[in-house]
Amino acid sequence: IDYARFYVCEADEMSNNEIRQIKPPGRDPVAVYRVEDSFHATDDICSHGQALLSEGEVDEDFVVECPWHGGTFDIRTGEALSFPCVLPVRSYPVQVEDGKLYLNLQAGETKE
Ligand code: FES
Repeated sequence: IDYARFYVCEADEMSNNEIRQIKPPGRDPVAVYRVEDSFHATDDICSHGQALLSEGEVDEDFVVECPWHGGTFDIRTGEALSFPCVLPVRSYPVQVEDGKLYLNLQAGETKE
């Protein structure tokens, strides 16, 4: 498995503000987001509990809201934005190539 170039789906399979859960073998799930024509990815598991961010909601401000306690994260950086989320989640670069989305799971960074 090439974790540096992990295929997600065709870019146009995702609709605006959609969150899609990806399960790379041997790793925790990742949430992939589409906002207009930009694509972003973070860890799917909330840093506050065990909720899945892919079951939450994203809005135009690049913010995902956790379905459990309503904490929020910046989907571009993984930064925690509101209570009760304090710790960031990792974010991953998403590349679009020939209309296909790829994640670089090796480049996941935690940004405080
Ligand atoms: Fe996400 Fe509590 S589990 S805000």
